[in-house]
Amino acid sequence: LRKVFSGIQPTGVPHIGNYYGAIKPWVEMQDSHGNVILSVVDMHAITMPGGEPKKLRQNIQEMFASLIACGIDPEKTILFQQSAVSKHAELGWILGCLTTMPRLQHLPQWKQKSEALSEVPLGVFTYPVLQTADILLYKATDVPVGDDQVKHIELARDLANLFNKKYGETFPKPKPVVGSFNRIKSLRSPTNKMSKSEKDAKSRIDITDSPEVIREKFKKAITDFTSKITYEPTDRPGVSNLISIHAAFANSTPQKIGEENSHLDTLQYKLLVADVVIAGTAKIREKFAEMMRNKEYLEQTIQLGNDKARQIAEETYKEVIHRVGFV
Ligand code: TYM
Repeated sequence: LRKVFSGIQPTGVPHIGNYYGAIKPWVEMQDSHGNVILSVVDMHAITMPGGEPKKLRQNIQEMFASLIACGIDPEKTILFQQSAVSKHAELGWILGCLTTMPRLQHLPQWKQKSEALSEVPLGVFTYPVLQTADILLYKATDVPVGDDQVKHIELARDLANLFNKKYGETFPKPKPVVGSFNRIKSLRSPTNKMSKSEKDAKSRIDITDSPEVIREKFKKAITDFTSKITYEPTDRPGVSNLISIHAAFANSTPQKIGEENSHLDTLQYKLLVADVVIAGTAKIREKFAEMMRNKEYLEQTIQLGNDKARQIAEETYKEVIHRVGFV
């Protein structure tokens, strides 16, 4: 039986890179196969220093509202808040006893994050172990993620293996499912991926941006000194990124979209892509606003999801503590 698990950090409203890279594939899996569990991973969100409780609380709500606005249906999918299910932390501890420091030191995200910090919190190091606990608690088989997460899912496979060898067959080996989707790049530095962590907000389009803001951001998008529209991702990353975004929204290929718009100049094309994105996000914008107006429904939905997740997690954990010898 295929069981899907994935997670997303509550970093506020997602951008269109998150939407096409992660959220849309989740919605498609939910509607085609079902059996999807999604977690807003707030415990992961506190690993990097500097966060503020008030902001985190708001970000958690906005992420739930965004996921529902994008088409995650809490009746079909178990959508829950990681910190509300304490077994994530408990299983994380047990799994941490099965891996080694050198194994975690090899992970690329650890290298990146620890190099960027002068004092590195322990949570940044054990982050992928908690991520493994997220996946194994639900005995997930498929984990849809962007390619930056593949190494973490490989750790989850290894730890499932190690646990099964030492304590007896318990967990399926989860496999990463990475879409063939072209990564959406930053509008300001189009060789980098679109990212929450880039300081300049004009570098990304959030899924709830107003039509005016979307138009403004596209107008300011970095292109080059050629005004023709051609899809050449290596030589013309800026224009090619606009074409990729257009293709994602039009459900087409960049090659085709490039040819279809070759008669426009860059300014005309920026305004066209802005209109496509404004139309493509209209429903999400509306639904998001509706969710944020109805906090009571939102809170209730989160509670119900938490209860469903907790039930599964507690069942798995019971099995785990028997195997480990705690009982
Ligand atoms: P996070 O919150 O950084 O991102 C959520 C998902 O979005 C993908 N993604 C992208 N895909 C394409 N283009 C982009 N520009 C882009 N930006 C982000 C990410 O690859 C990810 O799939 N550690 C995870 C959260 C997590 C998790 C889990 C995932 C915690 N526990 C268990 C799977 C299973 C993270 O930080 O994702």
